[in-house]
Amino acid sequence: MNPNPVDAPTAPAGIAEATVNVNGVVTSGDRAVVSVFDHGFLYGDGVYETLRTYNRRPFLPDRHLARLRASAARLSLEVPPSDAELESRLRDTMRAVHPQGEVMLRILVTRGVGDLGYDPAVCRTPTVVIIARPHRESPERVQRDGVRLVVASVVRNHPRSVDPVIKSNNLLNNVLAMQEAVRAGAYEAILLNHRGELAECSQSNLFVVRDGVVLTPPLDAGLLEGVTRNLLFEVGAEVGLAVREAVLRESDLPDVDELFITSTTREVVPVVEVGSRTIGSGSPGPVARRLLRRLRERADRLTRAAD
Ligand code: PDD
Repeated sequence: MNPNPVDAPTAPAGIAEATVNVNGVVTSGDRAVVSVFDHGFLYGDGVYETLRTYNRRPFLPDRHLARLRASAARLSLEVPPSDAELESRLRDTMRAVHPQGEVMLRILVTRGVGDLGYDPAVCRTPTVVIIARPHRESPERVQRDGVRLVVASVVRNHPRSVDPVIKSNNLLNNVLAMQEAVRAGAYEAILLNHRGELAECSQSNLFVVRDGVVLTPPLDAGLLEGVTRNLLFEVGAEVGLAVREAVLRESDLPDVDELFITSTTREVVPVVEVGSRTIGSGSPGPVARRLLRRLRERADRLTRAAD
């Protein structure tokens, strides 16, 4: 009898191509399991990170691990493995993935297995999972033509609710926003915060370009402090572009020259429409292109230097 809930021959491609490390043990994606009593499954009680490789090496692992620990600390959740151990598990796990091409890596740390109930004391050991699977490049048209977003009706979590700064496994707020995007045939959904300001998207941060200055909502708007977002402040300075935080509203959109979103897996994606409104010239803009080029140069240089 196959003890696994995922039937190998019919496992969807993403699962079949994945390699998974559960508490230090590497298995194929279709064989990886955790208990239904894991509080990550029961309550979304856990945190995660998504990394990708360039030149087959994880990009900025130190920044992702620092954020993982910061997120976990906000939940009073322990991350028992050291950074060196986590990096070694990342390498072990991705080694088994398709030998060519880049890899997407997801680290999850949950409260672990325990009886029903919210008291964290019922879970003795956190569960640490790493999922590695081939990185999927976006279709060429995403960069060539740009994408369309919608503004979701669901608002971003209030920072005194599940604070968006925590990269938590409790993702229903994001899932609901993305469902609206999918229904509208859009690429992503913008979430407003409780004050009606632009915050971020369901899986990415948001930037606009106005009069040559690049602006992004401040952390105080209630958003995830994206690794790519932070990197753009640095690469912007390198190419002589001012990148700053500013409170932004939907009513600012008619005046922006460009809009783009950022994330680890998507890098920098130009946006040409929000709902039925055309952004800027209606074509991908030069600032997004320049920042993307510079980000890729930095990624290439850093991952080669890791030799
Ligand atoms: N998403 N905001 C949210 C809500 C996110 O989930 C993400 C990342 C970002 C961008 O952060 P970074 O630049 O560190 O990837 C912003 C990842 C890719 C994910 O959910 O898998």
